Amino acid sequence: MYHLQLKLAALLAWAAAVACEGVVAPVPEARGPGDCPPGGVNYAQLAAKLSKAAQIYQPGSSAFNAAVARWSNLSIPVANVVVVPSTENDIVQTVKFANQNSLPFLTTNGVHGSITTLGAMTHGIEILMSQLNRIAIASDGKTATIGGGVMSKNLTDALWAAGKQTVTGTCECVSYLGPGLGGGHGWLQGRYGLISDQFVSMNVVLANGSLITIDQNSRLSWAMKGAGHNFGIVTSTTSKIYDIQHPNYAMATLIFSGDQVEAVYRVANEQWHSTGKTMPVNLINWSYWFFDPTIDPQKPVIAMYLIQEGVSAVDAAYTQPFLDLGPIINQAVSGTYRDLAAWTGISLDAPPCQKTGNANPRFPIYLKSYNTTAQRLVYNLFAQATTNASTPFSNALFMFEGYPQQGVKAISDDATAFAYRADNLLVAPLLSYKPTGPALDEVAFKLGKQMRQILYEGSGQTSLNTYVNYAYGDETPLAWYGSDAWRQTRLHALKGDFDPTGKFSFYGPIA
Ligand SMILES: Cc1cc2nc3c(=O)[nH]c(=O)nc-3n(C[C@H](O)[C@H](O)[C@H](O)COP(=O)(O)OP(=O)(O)OC[C@H]3O[C@@H](n4cnc5c(N)ncnc54)[C@H](O)[C@@H]3O)c2cc1C
Ligand SMILES: *[C@@H]1O[C@H](CO)[C@@H](O)[C@H](O)[C@H]1NC(C)=O
Ligand SMILES: *[C@@H]1O[C@H](CO)[C@@H](O)[C@H](O)[C@H]1NC(C)=O
Ligand SMILES: *[C@@H]1O[C@H](CO)[C@@H](O)[C@H](O)[C@H]1NC(C)=O
Ligand SMILES: *[C@@H]1O[C@H](CO)[C@@H](O)[C@H](O)[C@H]1NC(C)=O
Ligand SMILES: *[C@@H]1O[C@H](CO)[C@@H](O)[C@H](O)[C@H]1NC(C)=O
Ligand SMILES: *[C@@H]1O[C@H](CO)[C@@H](O)[C@H](O)[C@H]1NC(C)=O
Repeated sequence: MYHLQLKLAALLAWAAAVACEGVVAPVPEARGPGDCPPGGVNYAQLAAKLSKAAQIYQPGSSAFNAAVARWSNLSIPVANVVVVPSTENDIVQTVKFANQNSLPFLTTNGVHGSITTLGAMTHGIEILMSQLNRIAIASDGKTATIGGGVMSKNLTDALWAAGKQTVTGTCECVSYLGPGLGGGHGWLQGRYGLISDQFVSMNVVLANGSLITIDQNSRLSWAMKGAGHNFGIVTSTTSKIYDIQHPNYAMATLIFSGDQVEAVYRVANEQWHSTGKTMPVNLINWSYWFFDPTIDPQKPVIAMYLIQEGVSAVDAAYTQPFLDLGPIINQAVSGTYRDLAAWTGISLDAPPCQKTGNANPRFPIYLKSYNTTAQRLVYNLFAQATTNASTPFSNALFMFEGYPQQGVKAISDDATAFAYRADNLLVAPLLSYKPTGPALDEVAFKLGKQMRQILYEGSGQTSLNTYVNYAYGDETPLAWYGSDAWRQTRLHALKGDFDPTGKFSFYGPIA
């Protein structure tokens, strides 16, 4: 780690060396007295403008290597330098410096972004948000101001200590804003809506380095709630928070043989519809498919998780229709809201939070309900791909996320850039594999697309609806942001006004 004040001499020497090696693009107009010879970027000029606690990591240093390591090792962004701002003004200065030197820049946070469009960043500055991590609860207890680099778990824990909570991503190792800027799904969305539905105001550094405050009346407010990655660097948000009303949770884990795909998803679909009841606001149903030879050596299992708020055991009314199908395993746990990530395998110490060097592409689709025929077809393909002796995909995970939707649907469909309030289920295969080069990447890509295509054909939908935060990267802006013409027109107009040269166009670019 480099404290600028202490290490300025070393940094100057390094900056000169880097610049003079021609590692970065030539920018003659950036030169001044004492700068490098033509052909370089003088990072010491940036260092001189940053606050005392800001840091700059050099390539080859362990801090640099740690900062650029990502969760998914597929089509990754490449940077020549990592800047770790500690103030809003540091971000302003970094963006202005990057622009003066015609360098691309990319905000990084929890490094779980996996969309392959990130690979278009081939050089430039990574802006690592980790020092902007303040969390301040307002005196009225109704909002909190959350730094642009706050992690999901840190926020949950800080609010919990004050008897509060808000919607965050479910996974402990993603940031608060990475998920939020794309809409943001979380355990509490049935009560309060998406992560981005909580945004009241935010401070944002725009493409030209201007720092602005956005409130509900700002033109950009709509766009930041679903397409936010395209418009700026959020240095902080002020978001709604709530008193904790239901600290307790219980979960039933019911593991079924793959033979029962149709039966399980018939119940998952019809349990509420057939009785004329609506999905209860206190119940989440998630399921995973994975190959675990210790449970079934022949084929992947179906693990159904029924998660209920406010109880110490899941109601029999919820579990019985599934128990009637005869699961292989039936387990129950109870605890609090803060245990949910561990129960579902996405806590800090769980495999999805480790950087293993694996490629982790997903192929998401939003669905209204399960088509049991399509579930069977895609299960068979998943089974073939994960269980054969020579497969690289034996650790693949098929995810089916059924959150309560009341809070999401309470907000009108056109209120934000998030386009998929009308859908109910977030579904995606995650084809985790150890990358060996383009040939295997292509096999994974074809397989994932084939799986998604089966679900798409079974859905009866006429457009591919995907969650930008799970997207592979081959989908189009229509799939990420909605195919309605008015949505595309509005997004393009805003992009033209706020980011005309596409500085924020590495993550699911609108244009
Ligand atoms: C195990 C796992 C669990 C997940 N669970 C959920 C979930 O429960 N709900 C959900 O909605 N999504 C979930 N996701 C998807 C998640 O939304 C994306 O992976 C997201 O990109 C992660 O953000 P990050 O900050 O961790 O990643 P990063 O790669 O650091 O950030 C992703 C992108 O976000 C932008 N960005 C980040 N911070 C800022 C900022 N302060 N200002 C401006 N732009 C910024 C940048 O464009 C960056 O490229 C999950 C992903 C994984 C791998
Ligand atoms: C989150 O909390 C952990 C554990 O307390 C801490 O090490 C880490 O620095 C925090 N991260 C941020 C971004 O605040
Ligand atoms: C990332 O994948 C490439 C192959 O595409 C491999 O050479 C490299 O070692 C991997 N990185 C890590 C950190 O494992
Ligand atoms: C094993 O699975 C891989 C990945 O889907 C596939 O390419 C390969 O053809 C399969 N092999 C056999 C023998 O089925
Ligand atoms: C699972 O959640 C989805 C989305 O809310 C819902 O449509 C479905 O009815 C739920 N199923 C069960 C069994 O709760
Ligand atoms: C379910 O999927 C199958 C296979 O794609 C399709 O033939 C059928 O029409 C779908 N059913 C509905 C109700 O859409
Ligand atoms: C920066 O961009 C914003 C949005 O396009 C614009 O309103 C503002 O005037 C610009 N600032 C400068 C200094 O050019």
